[in-house]
Amino acid sequence: DVNSSYSCWLRYKRFKDTDLAQKYLKWCSNIAAFEDTSVIQSALSEVNIGINGMLGVKPIISGSIDKPSFIFIGTLEKLKAVDISIDVNDENDIGDEGFLIKSVKTGDKDYIIVTGKTDKGVLYGTFSLLRLISTNTELDGIKRLENPSNPLRIINHWDNIDGSVERGYAGKSIFYANNKITGNLKRIRDYGRLLASIGINGIAINNVNVHKMETRLIREDFLPYVARIANVFREYGIKTYLSINFAAPIEIGDLNTADPFDADVKIWWKKKAEEIYSYIPDFGGFLVKADSEFRPGPFTYNRNHADGANMLAEALVPYGGIVIWRCFVYNCLQDWRDRKTDRAKAAYDHFMPLDGMFLDNVILQIKNGPMDFQVREPVSPLFGGLKKTNTILELQVTQEYTGQQKHLCYLVPMWKEILDFDTYAIGKGSNVKKIVNGKPFNNKYGGIAAVGNVGDDMNWTGFQLAQSNLYGFGRLCWNPDLSKEEITDEWIKLTYSTDKAVVDTISKMLLNSWRIYENYTSPLGIGWMVNPNHHYGPNVDGYEYDKWGTYHRADCKGIGVDRTVKNGTGYTKQYHKENAEMYENLETCPEELLLFFHHVPYIYKLKSGETIIQHIYNTHFKGVEQAINLKEQWKSIKEMVDFDIYQHVIERLEGQIEHAKEWRDVINSYFYRKTGIKDELDRTIY
Ligand code: GCU
Repeated sequence: DVNSSYSCWLRYKRFKDTDLAQKYLKWCSNIAAFEDTSVIQSALSEVNIGINGMLGVKPIISGSIDKPSFIFIGTLEKLKAVDISIDVNDENDIGDEGFLIKSVKTGDKDYIIVTGKTDKGVLYGTFSLLRLISTNTELDGIKRLENPSNPLRIINHWDNIDGSVERGYAGKSIFYANNKITGNLKRIRDYGRLLASIGINGIAINNVNVHKMETRLIREDFLPYVARIANVFREYGIKTYLSINFAAPIEIGDLNTADPFDADVKIWWKKKAEEIYSYIPDFGGFLVKADSEFRPGPFTYNRNHADGANMLAEALVPYGGIVIWRCFVYNCLQDWRDRKTDRAKAAYDHFMPLDGMFLDNVILQIKNGPMDFQVREPVSPLFGGLKKTNTILELQVTQEYTGQQKHLCYLVPMWKEILDFDTYAIGKGSNVKKIVNGKPFNNKYGGIAAVGNVGDDMNWTGFQLAQSNLYGFGRLCWNPDLSKEEITDEWIKLTYSTDKAVVDTISKMLLNSWRIYENYTSPLGIGWMVNPNHHYGPNVDGYEYDKWGTYHRADCKGIGVDRTVKNGTGYTKQYHKENAEMYENLETCPEELLLFFHHVPYIYKLKSGETIIQHIYNTHFKGVEQAINLKEQWKSIKEMVDFDIYQHVIERLEGQIEHAKEWRDVINSYFYRKTGIKDELDRTIY
C-alpha cells in the first residue's frame, strides 16, 4: 500500500505479539507532559501516532504524574517542577540538543523519563524512544544519554522553483511547482517529521545553482512563502537556509557591482539580512556556490573567497546566522592535453591559503572527495588540512553517480569509510568524523551536510530501498560511531519487520550493494566512465576529451591518472605525511584507489595475482552475477514483505540487472579492444 512506503521508517506497525504490546502498554498509556512549545507539541503528536499505531491505544496525555506508570516527556526544568530528580552528572552531561531516556522505579512507581535541556532535545528523545519500542528494545532498566556528535546536520535540496530537481531521481520538488512555493504544508510537515526523527536540524531548500527566478527567493514577494515553510520546519527543530546568488545585488538590486568590498554592496546585504530575519527570525543562513561552474563570485572583482564569504557573514552576524561557503571550486574549462592541471588539487589549492581568514560564522562545506561524488574517491585533503576554519563534510545522498535510485546502492558503508579515514592532522586517530565536528581545533561550528534524495514521489525517494540512505545519513550525523550493521538493522526493523529472515536478508543486500555497483561500473577508483550531462550509464570516453578535468588517461598500454609527486600532478603531497606516502607509493596505495593515484600498464599485477585487465574483466562479470543474486535474495522474503513493495523492488532490481549487463559489456569491450588482451576465462566480450 502507498501509505506504508510514504511513512518510511515511521511506520509504527501494530505489534502482532500481544505479550510484547502488553509490556510497553504499562508505560505508554499515560503520558505526563507539561510544555506547550511547538516543538514539544510535535513530540507529543508523534507519541500519539506512534503508540496508537504500534499498540492500538490512544495515550492519555496529561499534566499528571500520579499514575503508577507513565512516560514523562519534557525538559529538565519541568522535570524539576514535578520533583523528579536525576543524577546531577547526567544532568550536566546533557547538551543543548541531547536527551536522556531513563527508566525509574521507586516504591510504588515505575515510569520512564524522556527529557532534555531544550525542547529540541526532548523531541529527539521522543523519536528515540519510539524507535526503541519499534525495534522491540527492552525498556526495563533502560538508560540512554545521547548528544549529537555534530552541531550542524543539514540537508541540501538542489530544487529549482520550476519544480525540477537537479540530480533528483524521485519525481519533482516537494517545495516548488510552476515558479511558486508549495502550499502543501502537510507534505512539508511529514518531511519535517522524517528529518527530525533522524536528528537533522537544518535544511537548505533551493539549489546551489541559483538561477534567475531562485535569486528572488530573498525578495519580499517570495519571503512570506519561504517563511511558511520555515514555520513548519521550526516545529521540528529544523532551521531553514537559502542558497543565494552572489550577484544578487546586481540581479535583484539596483547596483551595478557585487564587489564584496563595495560599501553599497555591503549595505545591500545588511538590509537584505534584516529583511529576511523580519520574516524568519531563526533563519539559518546562506549556502553559497561561488566562482564554481560558472556561478558568480568574488573572483570577478579580484577578491578571494574569504573576502566574499566574510562580507555576507558580517551581514548575518547580528542575527546569529551563518554562511556556508562551498569548496567545490575548480577549473571547468580544462584542455584534456594539459597534464599539469589536476582538478583533484583545486579545492585545496584555493582554500588552504585562506585558512584562518574566515570569520567565525563562516563554514566551508567540502565534498567528501576531491573530485565529485564518484563511486569511490579518496577523502579530500582539506579535512585535516584546514585547521583554523570551520568545516562541514558534504555527502551526496541523491545517487547521481551511484545508480540514480534505479540501482540499489546503499551508501552507509562508503560514508563510514570516509568518516573513519585517518587524516593524521593531529597525529594518529584524527579521523574525519572527529575533524568535522569542529572540536579538535576548537572551531565554533562543524558538521555534516548532504544533498538529499527526496522528491514528490509517493515513497519520497523513487526507489523505496533508497530511503535507507537518507535514514543512514541522519543517523551518522548524529552518531558517526554507530556501526553500519546497527544502522542497517534499525532501518529494516522500522521499515519492514523485526523478523530475523527479513533483517538478515535485506541487511546483506544493502551492505554489499555499493561494492556490487562498483564492480560492474568503474574500476579501481578511476571514476567518470559515464554518459555526459545526465551521468547515467556507461561511456568510457564520455568525459575523456572534455573540459571538466575528468580523465582516466587510458591508452593501449595503460590506465590511470598519475597523481604522484614523483612523476605526476603532485596531488599526493596535499595529504599529511602518512597518507601522502601511502598514496605516493604504488605498493602501499590501497588497490581500490590504485588508478586514482597511479598510471599503470594493463599487465600490472595486483596483490591477488590478477592483472589490471583481468581484474576489470573479472569484477565486471562478477558484478552482474551479484546483481542477479540481489534479486534472488529479495525473492526469498517474498511472503514477509508487503506485496506492493515486494513488486516495486523486484522491478527495480530487474532493471538493475539489465543495466549492469550493459555496463559490463561496454566496459569490457572497450578495454578488450583497446588492449587486445583476451579474458583468461574466455567469456563473451563483444
Ligand atoms: C556536480 C553535479 C552538479 C552540481 C555540482 C555541485 O557537478 O553534477 O549538478 O551542481 O556537482 O555540487 O555544485
